[in-house]
Amino acid sequence: MKFNFDTVIERRNTNSIKYDPVSRGKPEDVLPLWVADMDFQTPVCVREALVSRSQHGIFGYSEPGASYYSAVKNWYKNRFNWNTEKEWLLITPGVVNALYLAVRAFTKPGDAVLIQQPVYYPFASAAQKTGRTLLVNELVYKDGSYIIDFEDFEKKAKDANIFILCNPHNPVGRVWTKEELLRMGEICLRYGVIVISDEIHQDIIFSPNKHLVFAALDERFSDNTVTCTSPSKTFNLAGLHHANNFISNEKLRASLKQEYENSGLSQPNIMGLISCEAAYKDGSVWLDELNNYLDGNMSLLNDFLQSNIPKIKLIKPEGTYLAWLDCNELELSAKELDEAITKKCKLWLNDGRMFGKGGSGFQRMNVACPRSVLENALSRLKEVNK
Ligand SMILES: Cc1ncc(COP(=O)(O)O)c(C=O)c1O
Repeated sequence: MKFNFDTVIERRNTNSIKYDPVSRGKPEDVLPLWVADMDFQTPVCVREALVSRSQHGIFGYSEPGASYYSAVKNWYKNRFNWNTEKEWLLITPGVVNALYLAVRAFTKPGDAVLIQQPVYYPFASAAQKTGRTLLVNELVYKDGSYIIDFEDFEKKAKDANIFILCNPHNPVGRVWTKEELLRMGEICLRYGVIVISDEIHQDIIFSPNKHLVFAALDERFSDNTVTCTSPSKTFNLAGLHHANNFISNEKLRASLKQEYENSGLSQPNIMGLISCEAAYKDGSVWLDELNNYLDGNMSLLNDFLQSNIPKIKLIKPEGTYLAWLDCNELELSAKELDEAITKKCKLWLNDGRMFGKGGSGFQRMNVACPRSVLENALSRLKEVNK
């Protein structure tokens, strides 16, 4: 292994929200495996690019250059066989704001937004906080994994204006198959539902699964889709607030751009540009090793649960570094479970309820940490039975 993911880096007192339990009402001594950032340093190529740019010492209003566009284009071509155009790109200060502003750009108050819960909680907020109607196609938990109820999806799509797709899916860990994506895409086209495809977790994929860019499957899908991506999950850059959204349809692109302008947001963050370009130019080998390491962490977690706490089941993820844990056999109420995790185990995870009602009895654990930290977390988790 060329890169070392075992080193424990001190993150307390670095303005990290993950490592500030007290201000979020958690006890001081909890081990944090909640919010989706990693405890690994971003690769050297990114750190060096940021240091070098910071030595210049001037951080004025900035824009992407030709080398930025070619790094982004090559990343998508090489890793996903997706041909993108420079003109499709809308750079934004993150994906969540792109979801909110897409809802505002493409719908009006009272229109309906379709999502698939349990899902990353801002999907629901993007509809509810903008005065839109939320339609939920509940994912079906079956044989230890999640599938789509297509009949229900189609019924809801008839009334929906936009659909926010999560692929790979946070928190259930599905990397949707071609067949599933084609079926969802055709239904959305049939009922004129615009697709916002949040693909922020697209680089964290466990073999033999393959991430398929939804818009790349069919030109008609591309014409009906905003694809939201970012190097932030992949290279641990969330604090730099930088995202690349691809929109091949000129009309959709113009209205989302207009929404950003109406919100007073225009030029990107220079460090976002620099880090993204360096990561996409030189970060590929590091990423492959990261995926191997995370796969190892998931296996460790799975083996540990089977041997030590069989009442907790890992929903084996196909992608993402987020482990979705079915704790229902512990026969605790969701509130008791959350309290046991925090107070008995001294762990800080995400209560499954925040992802929708299907999340009750589940906890989400972020395993993007050195193996020794995960081992510590697992020995703490044993206390849940006591
Ligand atoms: C599906 C999904 N979308 C978006 C985000 C956050 O994106 P950003 O930090 O760019 O707003 C996350 C973070 O966990 C996520 O899981």
